[in-house]
Amino acid sequence: MDSPDTLYLQIAQTLAASIRAGVLARGERLPSLRDLAAQHGVSLSTAVQAYRALEDMRLVETRPRSGFFVAARPPLPPVPEATQPPADSREVDIDKLAAYTLRLANAEGYISFGAASPSAELFNVERIRRTVTRAALRHRDALCEYALGSGHETLRRAIARYALRLGCQLQPRDIVATNSCLESITLCLRAVTRPGDVVALESPTYFGFLEILQSLHLRALEIPTHPRDGLSLDALELALDTQPVKALLVSPTLSNPLGGSLPTAERRRLARLVRTRGIALIEDVLHNDLAEQEDRRRAVRSFDTSGHVMLCGSFSKTLAPGLRVGWLEAGRWTEPVRRMKMATSGAQTTFVELAMAELLNHTGNEAAFRQMRHTIAARVDEARRLIAGSFPKGTRVTDPAGGYVLWVEMPRGVDSQALFTACLAERIAIAPGTLFSATDRYRHCVRLGVGGRWDDTQRHALMRIGELARALLAAAPALREAA
Ligand SMILES: Cc1ncc(COP(=O)(O)O)c(C=O)c1O
Repeated sequence: MDSPDTLYLQIAQTLAASIRAGVLARGERLPSLRDLAAQHGVSLSTAVQAYRALEDMRLVETRPRSGFFVAARPPLPPVPEATQPPADSREVDIDKLAAYTLRLANAEGYISFGAASPSAELFNVERIRRTVTRAALRHRDALCEYALGSGHETLRRAIARYALRLGCQLQPRDIVATNSCLESITLCLRAVTRPGDVVALESPTYFGFLEILQSLHLRALEIPTHPRDGLSLDALELALDTQPVKALLVSPTLSNPLGGSLPTAERRRLARLVRTRGIALIEDVLHNDLAEQEDRRRAVRSFDTSGHVMLCGSFSKTLAPGLRVGWLEAGRWTEPVRRMKMATSGAQTTFVELAMAELLNHTGNEAAFRQMRHTIAARVDEARRLIAGSFPKGTRVTDPAGGYVLWVEMPRGVDSQALFTACLAERIAIAPGTLFSATDRYRHCVRLGVGGRWDDTQRHALMRIGELARALLAAAPALREAA
């Protein structure tokens, strides 16, 4: 699968992961070009390319006549601690703020950090365009046929093949095509809950999940979550002992917004836990391909032996955001979920499904994902550095091993909704922390998505957000005295 022109990226990613994990310390000498080439069985020029890529990511520096060293990075802001949400469940009421934030995140003329999605130049737009055109031509009869069923067989086979990457052996007949990951999650939740039920999720969690809970009148039970290792299973077990949890809705890989990923042993433990407790785990695998470490791309579902894990995914973040193709495999709830999909929106658009299948079957996808991970990692590193230099003293920022989302925890005097308003006045969009919880505990946090366009305009805007946060903090004691 690895062509010579992407081998260097694989080597760079492996070294980058070791540097980020601290296995290779700052200032440490790295193998010479000759040794690196020999270690990986590649040519000298591939080794040169690998080091050049690491230099671009600012992880490696060259010292004249001395060789390659792990870059002595300037001090970066510390990362946030694990979260400590309250132990009881809450009603959710975030939909108006979410709709407003999202509208601005994508609005014309705004510099956007509000959305969590990669910009168009990170995709192969030309391939998508060609594939869709070809599918519409080849399958023109489908344009006038009424589609029925759970997705075209060709797409379901392509998804089953794709799921092998996640360590899952799925049967095409059990897969249901949907129009998005969020539709998949909604269908799964509807199949296993009734209004008033409690659903456990990471804290903070993706506001799209909270909006679904609100629309289905479900209560949110937020579970402590670690910015590197994801959901705390100790805390989850405790919660399951004391709260009537009906389902779990979790992103075990690159949770949004913290960016943590469960280690393999915890994935196995989570699968065992839902089996022994007899509850449904809705697993969102949307971001798995963006995880830097390969073992974190494996789904919890791959450890599930009892059908308690319902898998939900889409290709909105990695292959073709505009095609709106999602999927699910609902384990022991396959039939009720399939019926619910039919009753809700019927089948999808056949020629789009066939285009998606072709894109999925493309052999260059792994190389493209790697390239995307590489570009995004460099951007995230740079954004963290800019935040360290411009946000108020005491700010903490996540250091995600993949993805393009940063969670910024500022001193408590900064109200993220006031910051949101101040940024809007300068046509900068951010996502205030209040969106990511059914509680008010993340009022001093913001989520910044850095997957969008990235140039000097974005860099300056990011620093400007920091300045505005500093100004709000400086004004905070005066405001309190005036009150
Ligand atoms: C964790 C998570 N799940 C789902 C979605 C939405 O995916 P889709 O567009 O396929 O519904 C997002 C979008 O940001 C997300 O962050």
